[in-house]
Amino acid sequence: MTDAPPSTLLADQSAYAEAVQLALDAAAAYYGDGTSSLDDDAYDHLVRGIQAYEAEHPDEVLPTSPTGKVAGGAVVGDVPHMVPMLSLDNVFSAEKLVEWAASLERRLGRPVTAWSVEPKLDGLAIAARYRSGRLVQLVTRGDGTKGEDVSHAIGTIVGLPARLAEPVTVELRGEVMMTTSQFEDACAKRQAHDGTTFANPRSAAAGALRAQDRPYVCELTFFSYSALLHSDDASEQAASLRGLPHSEVMAWVAAQGAQTPAVTDVGGIVATTLERIQERVEEIAAKRADLAFGIDGIVIKCDLAADQAQAGFGSRAPRWAIAYKLPATEKITKLLDVEWNVGRSGIIAPRAVLEPVVLDGSTVTYATLHNVADITRRGLMLGDSVVVYKAGDVIPRVEAPVVHLRTGDEKPIPIPQVCPLCGDEIDASQERWRCVRGRACRAIASIGYAAGRDQLDIEGLAESRIQQMLDAGLIADFADLFYLTREQVLGLERMGATSTDNLLAAIERAKAQPLSRVFCALGVRGTGRSMSRRIAKHFGSMDAIRTADAQAIEAVEGLGPKKAPGVVAELVELAPLIDKLVAAGVTMTEPGWTPPPAPGSDTSAGDDAEPGGTPGLPLAGMSVVVTGSMSGALEALTRNQMNELIERAGGKSSSSVSKKTSLLVAGENAGSKRAKAETLGVRIVGPEEFADLVGDLI
Ligand code: IVH
Repeated sequence: MTDAPPSTLLADQSAYAEAVQLALDAAAAYYGDGTSSLDDDAYDHLVRGIQAYEAEHPDEVLPTSPTGKVAGGAVVGDVPHMVPMLSLDNVFSAEKLVEWAASLERRLGRPVTAWSVEPKLDGLAIAARYRSGRLVQLVTRGDGTKGEDVSHAIGTIVGLPARLAEPVTVELRGEVMMTTSQFEDACAKRQAHDGTTFANPRSAAAGALRAQDRPYVCELTFFSYSALLHSDDASEQAASLRGLPHSEVMAWVAAQGAQTPAVTDVGGIVATTLERIQERVEEIAAKRADLAFGIDGIVIKCDLAADQAQAGFGSRAPRWAIAYKLPATEKITKLLDVEWNVGRSGIIAPRAVLEPVVLDGSTVTYATLHNVADITRRGLMLGDSVVVYKAGDVIPRVEAPVVHLRTGDEKPIPIPQVCPLCGDEIDASQERWRCVRGRACRAIASIGYAAGRDQLDIEGLAESRIQQMLDAGLIADFADLFYLTREQVLGLERMGATSTDNLLAAIERAKAQPLSRVFCALGVRGTGRSMSRRIAKHFGSMDAIRTADAQAIEAVEGLGPKKAPGVVAELVELAPLIDKLVAAGVTMTEPGWTPPPAPGSDTSAGDDAEPGGTPGLPLAGMSVVVTGSMSGALEALTRNQMNELIERAGGKSSSSVSKKTSLLVAGENAGSKRAKAETLGVRIVGPEEFADLVGDLI
């Protein structure tokens, strides 16, 4: 994780005044309807520039300056908060977190013995007022002292019950947001209504919360992060809650029936050391991309009421809590161009070319645009400022244009009328457009892929050679390779007897490749190397795969109900090619395959059988990750071959280190995966030790 990025440099008073106005406008839009001309990073950047200028020129500070104000000084609403709704100070690195904790402990004059570590939910702060257990009012944060009454949203927010378990009078504070599925649902509703979508879940949630007379209703989600009792509440309930640690207050909130992050994968924990805090930060960061809702950091709070009381509050934020910000996953950049690529199966896919932006640690230049309908639906234009999203391993995607930043110079995106690769017609009957020639359009690419090292591994079949064979009409797909005669190959230009015999021998050897590789060679969408191994391991034979319906395919780990029907449909389309492979004598089974146990059946392996692996094999039940370069007996193995080896040895190969990882094989130049494994206490072995472990399975 990085330190705070640098600030915008403001040269003079007029640049400063302009920056203050820009920040004010952005804050008003952000806290108003959730839109903004600046992404979070750009806003933070600007405010830091304003702060730096004010530190140098204290007598020029404008009263409208956003610094030191909740919600950047944007004023919304007129319902007073009984206790101000404050913001949080930020740190951007582990070092700064340690510094912050040390300064807090100096202030307290004692060590903090319990920290609460929670996700920082990326939504809108809200106060939910309950009187005698009934939800009576919802108020937004506004400027921190006064907010807007949004009680009309009561009944549309999951996690915020109309009644609590007990007749208590309490204000639950927390974040209102949209989960991914609520966001998709909201976009579909808006799409049907006026043909537009929302830029992101946060602005969709802001809009939905304020909307009073929309013809459609969008569902929201609430997670609580604190509970407030009236200072003059003398009830028994209040007395029993006062003075409780924050973690216990949150357990009480959950017991009352309101939602807290405890029901998610990233619920709050109590940490007693800075090491444990850092470990939890890493754990939450690793899960971020897979969460069903957005988080933008981790909040670390003193858990004990006495520590909180003594630390107190600044004007903008409490001194007993800090937000450890995670790198931005969303930024605004320019859409420079749209490229049209034809995939192996003839799918014509648009790809956005962007002005490069750094997102979640890497520079993004291209982003997926899904399909033509998606472009039209979002109303994208060349030259648009667009919101781009990327987190973890996900492929960057363009979310939406920022319409109010248009200059008038934007141009429509040219949509191809014919296949951009071969010039043939386009089949536009489905959302994903396709060249009418299907796989034949990209024959070189699909044959080259099938012959590749991780699939059929046919040595000596360069692209130029494939082109020659296509041009000569000897092959149309990769199954035809198995029918080539010596005379046909010898007849090709620049093809001598030795290279012909070598190539034909390589093709002959390819017939013995296991089903996992033959299946991978088919290039079915969504089934790369490891998925193909899983499919082969699950079904054991091509026949079994071909007779499986979508429901049976879904049972393969990682192939959910979304992907399975596509796999079935592609296999039907590939039937003639598969038949040709079968007739040529290509292997259609997975060596050593045993049927997986029926769900729920007792395999009588006993209680101590390792879960999910074949007992007796050296890596049975283990999840193994490989990083760095391999040496010794493993030197020549590709990553795919290493993964195949792990699976032959009964283990499960994975590409990222997590708490569930049992073993990391770390070769030379191992980087962040090794560091992460060390933090998580995962066992690490070198290539030599690993080679000993798997023995003659290599
Ligand atoms: S505690 C006294 N805990 O982040 C302030 N806030 O950037 C107490 N937020 O205004 C805030 N998740 O809207 C707290 N687990 C969490 C949070 C959280 C998200 C929001 C909250 C706050 C903003 C500050």
